[in-house]
Amino acid sequence: MKGFEKFSIWVLINLLLWSSSCARGSSVVNPCCYYPCQNSGVCVRFETDIYQCDCTHTGFYGQNCTDPEFWMRLHLMLKPSPSVVHFILTHFQWFWDLVNSSFLRDTFMRLVLTVRSDLIPSPPTYNTRYGYLSWESYYNISYYTRLLPPIPEDCPLPMGTKGKHDLPDPRLLAERFFKRKKFRPDPQGTNLMFAFMAQHFTHQFFKTIHEVQGGFTKALGHGVDASHIYGDNLERQLQLRLRKNGKLNYQLLNGETYPPTVSEVPVHMLYPEDFPEELRLVTGHELFGLLPGLTMYATIWLREHNRVCDILRAEHPTWDDEQLFQTSRLIIIGEIINIIIEEYVQHLSGYLLKLKFDPTLLFTERFQYSNRIALEFCHLYHWHPLMPDSFLIDGDEIPYSQFLYNTSILMHYGVEKLVDSFSRQPAGQIGGGQNSHEKVVKVVEMVIKESRATRVQPFNEYRKKFNLTPYNSFYEFTDDFQMAKGLEELYGDIDALELYPGIMLEKSRPDSIFGESMVEMGAPFSLKGLLGNPLCSPEYWKPSTFGGDTGFNIIKTSSLKKLVCLNTRWCPYVDFHVPRNEDKAEKSYTDL
Ligand code: HEM
Ligand SMILES: *[C@@H]1O[C@H](CO)[C@@H](O)[C@H](O)[C@H]1NC(C)=O
Ligand SMILES: *[C@@H]1O[C@H](CO)[C@@H](O)[C@H](O)[C@H]1NC(C)=O
Ligand SMILES: *[C@@H]1O[C@H](CO)[C@@H](O)[C@H](O)[C@H]1NC(C)=O
Ligand SMILES: *[C@@H]1O[C@H](CO)[C@@H](O)[C@H](O)[C@H]1NC(C)=O
Repeated sequence: MKGFEKFSIWVLINLLLWSSSCARGSSVVNPCCYYPCQNSGVCVRFETDIYQCDCTHTGFYGQNCTDPEFWMRLHLMLKPSPSVVHFILTHFQWFWDLVNSSFLRDTFMRLVLTVRSDLIPSPPTYNTRYGYLSWESYYNISYYTRLLPPIPEDCPLPMGTKGKHDLPDPRLLAERFFKRKKFRPDPQGTNLMFAFMAQHFTHQFFKTIHEVQGGFTKALGHGVDASHIYGDNLERQLQLRLRKNGKLNYQLLNGETYPPTVSEVPVHMLYPEDFPEELRLVTGHELFGLLPGLTMYATIWLREHNRVCDILRAEHPTWDDEQLFQTSRLIIIGEIINIIIEEYVQHLSGYLLKLKFDPTLLFTERFQYSNRIALEFCHLYHWHPLMPDSFLIDGDEIPYSQFLYNTSILMHYGVEKLVDSFSRQPAGQIGGGQNSHEKVVKVVEMVIKESRATRVQPFNEYRKKFNLTPYNSFYEFTDDFQMAKGLEELYGDIDALELYPGIMLEKSRPDSIFGESMVEMGAPFSLKGLLGNPLCSPEYWKPSTFGGDTGFNIIKTSSLKKLVCLNTRWCPYVDFHVPRNEDKAEKSYTDL
């Protein structure tokens, strides 16, 4: 009767727990290593070799959550694929011209926001330590969250059950597939003004603690908190502040505002050992002395903060330093979100729909005003191919050796000339591989090593998580035959390809900065992070939060151009796009 007993228990588990059924593997391999649960079903291990997929709320049922329920079947039949949606959003100018100038703009924008952010679990789920829901994982914000749990520790192979016994050498991957052969400019016309904005903006919420492994972050705001301007802790913030009229500390050079130096504001900054004290500029983020592009943005935001303080003080003479500072900070955060959505994401997406930052669009929807930065988001944002071969400033060509840790460049040329030069110089195409300058190719190795230490699941599992079809072969994944062949030799199986190489080496969409996966995975994280900000909630999104209509309007009417030109002596060419050549502009019209 032993067999019958076992059978009864088996039936009981089925009945008592979820409506989905159990499965029995043939060996003692952890069955979750096969990633059996589809459509975001959750794999739970029972005994040693039994698993169960929890298909609750997925719209699917069956042992592996593969059978769609009636409404899901209908939804799947009607839903256009991501590539069709992308095609529509980037073509048919006449249609979008109609949409842009009517109520339909709101409808489409709301749709973009809800469809994208619905892919991000909120409240957050796993982290590097916890591959199952736990209070610690929810509560301990020192961890980056994770969309997919780590690869179980006891799997037979590094990526689960597929691929080779040893993953390829990270150095080999970097050298062969990532290192630049010849500079390939981004076909969407992205410039260095965009590239440095990307780096400056994202470093407020990506601050990986490299000293200890385990997917920890120093950026506890988990989103757009402007900690890269004000510091990521109160002590640093207080030192950076002038403590008068709400302003930030600054120095005047030839009558122009620049960040102060460490001798005036003694906070921790990373500079080479022998770096002269009087050139050690101080910024909210410890690392922004690294590149003149970052120090330039730090200077611009510093000036903008102090400008906003003056405007607020004129209207609120009774406000103390603290209230002026706090309210200005909220306005700055609002400006950042507005510029990122309406100009940065607009540029990156290539959409003909005119994107709109309007938090009220979500007031009628079910939406959580909270955010937790994901490890996967951090990895996919390593956009180092943007960096050029050298930097062209005001007619001078500056090599990396003279550009890195050189704050004299900012003070020598001034903000105007730097903005103008960075706006004119093309950035590299991010996707497609072999476009990372040798100075940054080491970073590729570092991400890959980190993703192994934190056991990030295979690229194809992430494809599925974001409703994309997993690739069947390396030849489908990239059009570059040599690369496909090389990757196949090294990984052995497309299902063993790692997330970062997958995202970066995937074939780019036609005339695009990167491929489908970067867009379909990056956009949800990005939009959830931007709109999940407390500022966008009904409780905050009103004039009083920003000191009245004046402050509220500063946010709503902000733009990259105003950000620069209200804080400089003359107005340079400023855009996220290289200057549009007339011939090219004409060509794109005749294309349609
Ligand atoms: C010459 C320019 C640059 C240099 C020398 C550089 C160097 C580095 C280094 C050494 C790291 C640490 C590696 C790691 O996270 O494992 C890093 C991290 C990173 N970089 Fe860059 N980078 C540059 C430009 C950029 C640009 C233009 C972006 C644009 C988005 C970018 C985005 C990132 C991100 C998101 C991280 C992860 C930060 C973190 O997790 O704390 N970097 N970079
Ligand atoms: C569920 O997945 C497992 C492991 O991938 C597989 O062996 C099994 O045949 C699948 N079951 C069904 C009903 O498809
Ligand atoms: C978060 O977890 C880490 C690792 O277990 C621990 O060192 C840290 O103290 C925790 N932080 C909090 C706030 O509990
Ligand atoms: C609609 O918006 C897109 C993107 O901003 C733009 O290319 C297009 O010209 C706009 N059309 C109108 C009529 O504003
Ligand atoms: C910093 O840049 C300036 C201007 O391009 C250059 O003359 C100088 O040599 C650079 N300094 C270093 C240490 O490379």
